[in-house]
Amino acid sequence: MRIGIIGAGQLGQMLGFAARDLGVECRFLDPSISPPARVCGDVLQRPFDDTAALSELAADCGVITYEFENIPIKALQQIESKVAVYPPVDALRQAQDRLDEKRLFEQLGIPLPLYQAINTRDDLSAAVDVLGLPMVIKTRRLGYDGKGQFVVRATADVDAAWRQLGTQPLIAEQWVPFDYEVSSIGVRNVDGEIRIYALSHNVHEDGILRISRSPVDAPPLVEKATDYVQRLLLHLDYVGVLALELFVKDDQLLANEFAPRVHNSGHWTIEGAATSQFENHLRAVMNLPLGATANHGHAGMINLIGEIPDRVRALGESHLHDYGKVPRPGRKLGHVTVLSDTAAGRDARVEQIYKSVTQSTRGDGTTA
Ligand SMILES: Nc1ncnc2c1ncn2[C@@H]1O[C@H](COP(=O)(O)OP(=O)(O)O)[C@@H](O)[C@H]1O
Ligand SMILES: [Mg+2]
Repeated sequence: MRIGIIGAGQLGQMLGFAARDLGVECRFLDPSISPPARVCGDVLQRPFDDTAALSELAADCGVITYEFENIPIKALQQIESKVAVYPPVDALRQAQDRLDEKRLFEQLGIPLPLYQAINTRDDLSAAVDVLGLPMVIKTRRLGYDGKGQFVVRATADVDAAWRQLGTQPLIAEQWVPFDYEVSSIGVRNVDGEIRIYALSHNVHEDGILRISRSPVDAPPLVEKATDYVQRLLLHLDYVGVLALELFVKDDQLLANEFAPRVHNSGHWTIEGAATSQFENHLRAVMNLPLGATANHGHAGMINLIGEIPDRVRALGESHLHDYGKVPRPGRKLGHVTVLSDTAAGRDARVEQIYKSVTQSTRGDGTTA
C-alpha cells in the first residue's frame, strides 16, 4: 500500500521513517522547498489546497493522512469520496477552531478552563469581568507554538490585545495557574482497537514545547486522562493518533486542546515505547493491529530549537534526531531522547542536556 501524507515537515519525516520499516511507500504534498520528509519519499511541491495535486495523491494512494493541521477542510472534502482520509475530516474541522474544540470538550464532559467567545471590543471588556485577570486571548484559528496569543495581565492591556488580535474571531480563557502540563496520546484503528501511551509531562516556554518526560507517576491523573482521550476517540469515530494537552492543578485535569495528528510530546515513543506513535499512526490508518504502547523505562525528550549545538551532537547515551532543516530562531530543528531505568536518572540527564542546549541558544557567551 502507498500512503499519501499531507505535509512533509518533521512529523512527516518521522512517519516516513516508520513507513520504511513497515515496507510501506509514502508520497507527500507540501509547498515548501526541500522539506524534511523529502528523504522518505516523493514530494508533490504544490499548495495544500491544490485540487489537481490532491486528486493525484488520492488516485495514487490507498489512504490519505496528514501531519499538518491547517489544511483547508474543503480541499479534504473534495478527495474524501475517492479515498479514505484519516484522521476523520470532521475531527480536524473541530480541532481547527478553538471554540468548536472547547464546545466538544463540554459536550463530552471533559473539564476545561472557563472561556468566552470574543467578537467585539466590548466582548473583551466583558470577559475581564467574567474570567478575571490574567486571562489569555487566543485566535480561534491558525495558532501554533504559542502564536496568535496575548496574555492580558491588567485592564490597561485590553486595548493592546484588541489592536494585535482584534481583526479575527477570538476566545478569551481564564489563566490557569497549573502545577504542570501533561499530554495523553491515544490511537485507534479502523476496526476500533484503542491503545493509549503513558502520560507525558510537558514543559513549555514562550508557548513552545521544550521538554517531555514519560511516564508520569500519578495513577489518578493517568486514569482520568485515559478516560478523556477514549471519549474523544469514540465520539469522533477517530482513526489515527490523537494527542490531548491538559493542565494539572492539584488532582484536577483541565483540557487545553487536542491535536488530530502525531504530536511533539510523543517523540519520546520512538525509542521510549514498544511501538512509536508514528508506527501506530500508520498501523491505525492502514487498519493493521496496533503495536503495544508500554514504555521502555523512563524517557525524556528535549527539543532542539533555533540551533543544534555541536556539544549536543557529541553526546553519548542519547538519541539525536536532526530533521535537516535550515536553522532559524525559534524553529524546531530536532530533538534528543534519553532513556533511563529510573525517573531520577532520566531527570538528571534531561536537566544536563537542557542546560547545554539553552546555554548556546540564549547566547550567554558560552561557546558550543
Ligand atoms: N489558559 C491558560 N493558562 C495558562 N497557560 C496557558 C493557557 N493557555 C495556554 N497556556 C500556555 O501556552 C501554551 C501554548 O498554548 P496552546 O493553547 O496549547 O496553543 P498552541 O496551539 O500554540 O500550542 C500552553 O501549553 C501553556 O503552556
Ligand atoms: Mg498546545
